Amino acid sequence: MGDEESPFRKTVLEGKVALITGGGSGICFEIATQFGLHGAKVAIMGRRKHMLDAAVASLQSLGIKAMGVQGDVRRKEDASRTVEAVITEMGRLDILINGAAGNFLVSPEDLSPNGFKTVMDIDTLGTFTMCHAAVNYLKEGGKGKGPTECGVIISISATLHYSASWYQIHVSAAKAAVDSLTRSLALEWGTDYGIRCNAIAPGPIAETPGTYKLVPEESGITSGQTLLEKWGDKWDIAMTAIFLAAETGKYINGAVLPVDGGQWLSKPRH
Ligand code: HXC
Repeated sequence: MGDEESPFRKTVLEGKVALITGGGSGICFEIATQFGLHGAKVAIMGRRKHMLDAAVASLQSLGIKAMGVQGDVRRKEDASRTVEAVITEMGRLDILINGAAGNFLVSPEDLSPNGFKTVMDIDTLGTFTMCHAAVNYLKEGGKGKGPTECGVIISISATLHYSASWYQIHVSAAKAAVDSLTRSLALEWGTDYGIRCNAIAPGPIAETPGTYKLVPEESGITSGQTLLEKWGDKWDIAMTAIFLAAETGKYINGAVLPVDGGQWLSKPRH
């Protein structure tokens, strides 16, 4: 968890309810924590009950109003059941964070078509499935209340597909599609319902499962001497999510924001 002091008012998300898929661990648990510490009620969704229970207990120990719903974003029934449970228990839904993701390192020739499909299903289809299940509740906040009160969708993308990344053909394709659907929903639901739809593309983030897998020692990216070389913290992503979800982001729609210290555009110095 990021220990740095937040630059945001502690009430900046007061009155909001956020549903965070993949919120039981890693970056999305930090988002859940920081959203809770800034006034939101948070619901986290994940496949593994023991992780959800531990995460909810941890959030509640900080005084955060939190609930967990076990479910798989690939399943339409799980998505609907989760959204309905949030409405029943918390009364509304203002913010959807699509964080659930699958990832493993594999060369294209060793990746089975079903392995490819599995990651597409979790990252891309899962993101769409959750958006689809949530839209009728998210748009309630948008109607007639002005731009500061609209529903918000934030998807967690990546920078892998800005060029090409070794052993990540499946995740790169899945995240490219997440960026695309972010823009399509921003256009259509932004226009029709006032829902803002954005994505965050984290670089290597310390103490997360994705980074441990994807950033080997020989990559040269460590705890870092310069901004371009160092790992980010989960806190960096959580603060970006607050910025996008709160009034600070009221004119931001359809953006995919890299949060990586500029690493995606860097090349070796020599
Ligand atoms: C090759 C693999 C594999 C592996 C699974 N598969 N793991 N192929 N190498 N390591 C293949 C299987 O062989 C199978 O294909 C198919 O994928 C489905 O596998 P299942 O185990 O049945 O699927 P499931 O139980 O649904 O699990 C899916 C999973 C998931 C993707 C493996 O458990 C998972 O991702 N866990 C890790 C989550 C994680 O690390 N999240 C962090 C994301 S961070 P066949 O053909 O055999 O049937 C992130 C950010 C990136 O994404 C950017 C950071 C810089």
